[in-house]
Amino acid sequence: MPCPALPDGFDFTDPDLLQDRVPYPEFAQLRQAEPVRWIAQERGVSGFDDAGYWAVTRHADVKYVSTHPELYSSNVNTAVIRFNSSIQRDQIEIQKLIMLNMDPPEHTRVRQIVQRGFTPRAIRSLEDALRRRATAIVAEAREKAAAEGSFDFVTDVAVELPLQAIAELIGIAQGDRARVFDWSNKMVAYDDPEYAITEEVGAEAAMEIIGYAMNLAAERKRCPAQDIVSRLVAAEDEGNLSSDEFGFFVILLAVAGNETTRNAITHGMHAFLTHPDQWELYKRERPGTTAEEIVRWATPVVSFQRTATQDTELGGQKIRAGDRVGLFYSSANHDPEVFADPDTFDITRDPNPHLGFGGGGPHYCLGKSLAVLEIDLMFNALADALPDLRLAGDPRRLRAAWLNGIKELQVSPVTP
Ligand code: HEM
Repeated sequence: MPCPALPDGFDFTDPDLLQDRVPYPEFAQLRQAEPVRWIAQERGVSGFDDAGYWAVTRHADVKYVSTHPELYSSNVNTAVIRFNSSIQRDQIEIQKLIMLNMDPPEHTRVRQIVQRGFTPRAIRSLEDALRRRATAIVAEAREKAAAEGSFDFVTDVAVELPLQAIAELIGIAQGDRARVFDWSNKMVAYDDPEYAITEEVGAEAAMEIIGYAMNLAAERKRCPAQDIVSRLVAAEDEGNLSSDEFGFFVILLAVAGNETTRNAITHGMHAFLTHPDQWELYKRERPGTTAEEIVRWATPVVSFQRTATQDTELGGQKIRAGDRVGLFYSSANHDPEVFADPDTFDITRDPNPHLGFGGGGPHYCLGKSLAVLEIDLMFNALADALPDLRLAGDPRRLRAAWLNGIKELQVSPVTP
């Protein structure tokens, strides 16, 4: 099969492309004809010094790379394939202090500690509080719809629960939440001019969150409470996090747990509104498989990367030590080798071995159970209290290099 011709300069991580659409047709071409393909980037445009990366588009290859950290490092570069070209090398280096960008054995040590905060019991203990939150969020949206006719699903519904979940998990006091939410919002959307956030403001926000988290850690060390901060920092020995490690962990949670879940919820709503048969089915039966299909369908994290530690081979291509390798979860999740009718939104899909939470290696999403719980609680609350919404405008997409994001989704009740 001939290699597919992508337009000159085509880059799967181009924020202008992702603002417009997820490039599913191009992914399909590559999966068939050239599943590991070199994508050239102008030197420096990504924030890295090299001239491109390998795009990995098949489910099996994404899984293989994810589960072989000895061949494909998370720490030589970082998980994000393309930063803003203005990013400084030291700003990239500092990101290596978060576990997403660590390799074993350091990663293993940190992951073993923080995992204690994410046990099934810890997540279950949040369920009642989050259910009440979800109910309250939908009740407020309903009032707004009654008063104004329509509302923005993103700001009025999808944003709130992921933020509150992380605040509950960490034990951030109610009075501090607005401030922490503002910081975390500032950190992520740096590629979208509408948010008018410079790298500098983002970096400042990150430093402020770290400072806040370190103070929180110090406070809990002095006076332990019944929350995960206390458990993670109880004593600064081998088995616990230092205050600054805890600070970087909170940064990771603020980024990894917010935009991702917010976009899963928003895309889920959009998918239901454009597939009314699935919404009717959901309202009737509430299948337990729904959240996983929403994450497969939406794939909020389009890609992450690894860097080859030695010369090797993948999908018939020779990969050299130091080459960056982009894992396209959005493509893997539509691979017809694995999913029957991959372009069909089917909330009863089972099994559903999607890679929306990663390829199953050591970095597999730590917050998966929490994310699934939040998505379930949100759609249950919506089905109970706002069962008949309709689209009141086209979704407006986020400009971003690695997120499949919607920043505005106007909806209104069918009968206000
Ligand atoms: C890692 C996706 C929600 C915390 C990841 C990875 C992906 C991902 C793709 C990287 C996996 C890899 O490299 O193999 C998502 C999606 C979410 C979501 C799509 C929502 C639908 C959350 C939530 C939290 C969270 C709610 C926490 C509150 C993390 C952490 C990591 C991670 C800490 C790094 C794990 C490590 O490096 O060992 N997530 N995530 N995520 N996620 Fe999530």
